[in-house]
Amino acid sequence: MKVLIATEKPFAAAAVKGIKEELEGAKHEVVLLEKYTEKSQLLAAVADADAMIIRSDKVDTEVFNAAKKLKIVVRAGAGFDNIDLAASTAHNVVSENTPGQNSNAVAELVFGLLVFGVRGFYNGKSGTELKGKKLGILAFGNVGRNVARIAKGFGMDVYAYDAYCPANVIEEAGVHAVANQEELFKNCDVVSLHIPATPETIKSINYNLVNMMPKGGIVVNTARKEVINEEELVKLMAEREDIKFITDIKPDADAEFAKFEGRYFSTPKKMGAQTAEANTNAGIAAAKQINAFFATGDTKFQVNK
Ligand code: 3PG
Repeated sequence: MKVLIATEKPFAAAAVKGIKEELEGAKHEVVLLEKYTEKSQLLAAVADADAMIIRSDKVDTEVFNAAKKLKIVVRAGAGFDNIDLAASTAHNVVSENTPGQNSNAVAELVFGLLVFGVRGFYNGKSGTELKGKKLGILAFGNVGRNVARIAKGFGMDVYAYDAYCPANVIEEAGVHAVANQEELFKNCDVVSLHIPATPETIKSINYNLVNMMPKGGIVVNTARKEVINEEELVKLMAEREDIKFITDIKPDADAEFAKFEGRYFSTPKKMGAQTAEANTNAGIAAAKQINAFFATGDTKFQVNK
């Protein structure tokens, strides 16, 4: 089978090597399309592919239409909001993700961003510490759990809310479970977002919610930009000069946020999962899932119906 690795943002070289070894070991042919700049390049490359590995690359109806032989697409990573799942099902293509494989990398970046944030973006002035501060984790999935683990090392007081994870599971992890997301924002000095972008969560981080935070509240986003109600957060930050917003996903309103000097920072390009280890874990998991699919029909990680 022909397996296309289509990554506008490439995997680390070591990961590509590992993915190739895994797939070629199962007698598949591997084709690499990296750093493409035009959608037409993806459409041409996918035309004769039986399988495809992607990252945040957009796979929409046009891509499925062009992919006449495609049977499986694996998103090497957690979030699969870049795949049109209805189109995937309509084209009889199995779509999968690789949950948990890059979660430590994202969780570590949360603390990279937070230390940078509480030390005034290294402006040479006196900052604050994370120790003893209340951290709220919004969604207790793979990334949220890693964030909790690392936060304890910093001596933070850790809280979490997850609409789909029972309170006792959160408590068993040594984290205070709160009843709803409002409680999290009301109680915590820092809130770290780990919710997926879904119809319920899109624009859910809004004026009223963030305004519940205590003085000096920090919102850190390593999830998706769509979950932020950007217009309302800009309005709030203009009104409340104590609120900070630190993000790994550049908002559409970057220029407006950038006016809040010393209170806003965005990485230039989403880099939470951009480590050799995360690329290797997620990439090889994707390759193994493709091998299993063609060998036995395994669809354990399927995300479309
Ligand atoms: C994920 O959903 O796994 C992360 O957001 C990583 O995305 P990336 O592959 O674009 O870095």
